[in-house]
Amino acid sequence: VSCRAMEAALGLGLLLLVAALLVAAALRRAAPGRTATGPALTGPVLTGPAASSPDSPRRAKPRPRREKPQREPGFTHRLLAAALKGHVGAVSCLHFSSNGKHLASCADDRTVRLWSTRDFTAREHRSVRGNVELDHAELVRFSPDGRALLVWLANGETIRVYKVTKKDDDSFTFTPSSEDFPKKHKAPVINMGVAETGKFIMTASSDTTILIWSPKGEVLASINTNQMNNAYATVSPCGRFVASCGFTPDVKVWEVCFGKKGDFREVTRAFELKGHTAGVYSFAFSNDSRRMATVSKDGTWKFWDTDVEYKKQQDPYLLLTGSCDVAEPCRIALSPDAHVAAISCGTNITVYNTRRGEEEERFVGVHTQHIADLAFDTSGRFLVSCGDRAIRVFHNTAGYRAVLEEMEAALRRSSSRTTKERLEQQIHSARRALTAVCGRKR
Ligand SMILES: *[C@@H]1O[C@H](CO)[C@@H](O)[C@H](O)[C@H]1NC(C)=O
Ligand SMILES: *[C@@H]1O[C@H](CO)[C@@H](O)[C@H](O)[C@H]1NC(C)=O
Repeated sequence: VSCRAMEAALGLGLLLLVAALLVAAALRRAAPGRTATGPALTGPVLTGPAASSPDSPRRAKPRPRREKPQREPGFTHRLLAAALKGHVGAVSCLHFSSNGKHLASCADDRTVRLWSTRDFTAREHRSVRGNVELDHAELVRFSPDGRALLVWLANGETIRVYKVTKKDDDSFTFTPSSEDFPKKHKAPVINMGVAETGKFIMTASSDTTILIWSPKGEVLASINTNQMNNAYATVSPCGRFVASCGFTPDVKVWEVCFGKKGDFREVTRAFELKGHTAGVYSFAFSNDSRRMATVSKDGTWKFWDTDVEYKKQQDPYLLLTGSCDVAEPCRIALSPDAHVAAISCGTNITVYNTRRGEEEERFVGVHTQHIADLAFDTSGRFLVSCGDRAIRVFHNTAGYRAVLEEMEAALRRSSSRTTKERLEQQIHSARRALTAVCGRKR
C-alpha cells in the first residue's frame, strides 16, 4: 500500500510537470506562424476521464521525459514505409477501423493510440492517446461504426468499452462506459473480435473456451472448441462465423445464428479445414470471408477456398500448400483481396503470393521482441507489425505485383479493343505505383 501511495505521489508530481510544460507549449503555440494543418488525428486531444494527463503529439518539444519514446535499434528495409513511434511499452495488438482511416494500437504502457493511415507515407506520424485507467489493454478493437473502442484489460481480465467522440476541432475524446463486462474466462484471453454486423463480440481463452457476448456484455453462448487448447480464434470479416485452431491439426468454424429480428438463436458447426498434420498456430480470412490461410507446426502454410455450401456438406477446397519457417509464436495474415499471405515467425516476416505460393519478400529481425500482431490495412497497400515499442509499416509490393499479373492475364484474354486500352492504361499506372514504392531496387 505504501508503494501505491508513493506511486500516486510520483504520478501527481509528473502531472504537475506535464501541466507546466503544457502551459509553456500553449504559450509558444500562441505565437504566429504555426503551420500545423495535420490530418484528422491531431491534438490537443483526449479530454474526459480517460485522459487525465493530456499528451498532444503536435505540441512543440520539449516533452516530459516520461513521454519520450526510446529509440529502437534501427531496423531498415527498402520496403519499410514507416515506423510509428509513440508507445513507451511493448505494443501487443493492432486493429484497423472498418473505413480504413485509422489504426488502433495498445501497449503495456497503459495507453491506446489511434494513428491516421493517411499519414503512413508522410514523414511524421502523429497519434492520439487514450489512457487505460489503473490497467493496461492487451487487445484493442474498433466497433464496426468506429464510434467505440473495445479493449481487453490485462488485470481486469475483461472487456472495457470506450466511446470515441470526434470533436469539431478534429480531436477525440475517449469515455469509458460506466461498467466493464463481467469477468467470465478462467484462462488467459488470446483474442477478441467484434462482428462487423455489430451483433456480437467474441473472446477466446487459451483453454478451449470461446464466449459469444451481446454488445451489452451478456454472454450469449459458450463454445468448447475441443482442441486441447486454443492457439488462435477470430470472427470472420462478414461477421457470420467464428473460428478457432489449437493443438489439433484442424481449424473449426462455427456460424453464429440470429433470427430475423436480430435476436440470438444458436451457434452451429459450419465447416472445418482439415489437412495439416500438426497443430495450427494461426489462420486468417480474406475480407470477403471466401478465402482462408493457415499456418501449422507441421512447417507448412495452406491457402483455402471456403466459399462453399457447407449446409450441403461441401468441404472447403485446399488451393495451395507452401513450406515456411515455423516457431512459436507464429502468425499469418491474408491481404484483403487474398493475393498475399504474410507469416511472422519469431522476429521475422515472410511474404508469399497465394497464386503459386512463392516467397516474395523476407523481413528479418523486424522487432526486438517476438512479433505480437500482424495485419494488412483495409486497402491492401500496407502490412503492419508490432512486437516492441514501434509499429512497422511495410509496402505490400507482393500485392501490387499480384494485381499487375492479374491485369496482364486479362489483357492477353481480352479481344475488345476498348477493354485492351483500358487494361493497358491500368497496367501502366500500376507499374508506376510499384516503381514508386520500390524503384530503387527494381
Ligand atoms: C529469421 O531469419 C534469419 C535469417 O534468415 C534466420 O537465421 C532465423 O532462424 C529466422 N528466425 C526464425 C525464428 O525463423
Ligand atoms: C475487400 O478488399 C478489396 C481490395 O482491397 C476491396 O476492393 C473490396 O471492396 C473489399 N471488400 C469488402 C467486403 O470489404
